[in-house]
Amino acid sequence: MTLLLFAVLAYLLGSVSFALISSWIFKLPDPRTYGSRNPGATNVLRSGKKAAAVLTLLGDAGKGWLAVFLAQTYAPQWGLGEEAAAVAALAVFLGHVFPVFLRFQGGKGVATAVGVLLGLNVWLGLLAMATWLAVAFTWRISSLSALIAAVLAPLYGIALLGFEVSTLAVSAMSLLLIWRHQSNIVNLLAGKEGRIGEKKEPGV
Ligand code: G3P
Repeated sequence: MTLLLFAVLAYLLGSVSFALISSWIFKLPDPRTYGSRNPGATNVLRSGKKAAAVLTLLGDAGKGWLAVFLAQTYAPQWGLGEEAAAVAALAVFLGHVFPVFLRFQGGKGVATAVGVLLGLNVWLGLLAMATWLAVAFTWRISSLSALIAAVLAPLYGIALLGFEVSTLAVSAMSLLLIWRHQSNIVNLLAGKEGRIGEKKEPGV
């Protein structure tokens, strides 16, 4: 029952969209109306307002980290173990992707996943971020960076955490993240995926 409470709270936290909040703060259009239509940092950057994209990134990553941190901190007091952090990790990610406040039409989960990974294990988060950055510096394509980091994250998880429930949560998160990038994969294969910061509409 307490585990369910952790899951619900994490899901609600994940449902808070910082793409919409930062767009509102910076008086930008709704990110669901331009670019890739994705409420995420990469698409907010297409508005041309870097500060709004940074706020989106920090907010979405921050909520992922916070959900895991709270579960890790309070789970023992409720007689729960490591499974609470894993459940919170998956729930906050699901909240971002299927937010109750946005009729379940959310983002692709990249920033939130980074926050979750940092919360589960700092080195895991840093490795995933380093992977994202290495690919982004090489090809300047946000989705490709996220996809490669998502493929490698479970392997990093196995190496750093072992075959634990948290690694299972990381793997589920990666699968969902890749699934959410279907339109990006189509664009990548067609050579039509936009570069980071480009304002022009991507292929889809
Ligand atoms: O963070 C999401 C990114 O991987 C792709 O975003 O807007 O190019 O579809 P977007």
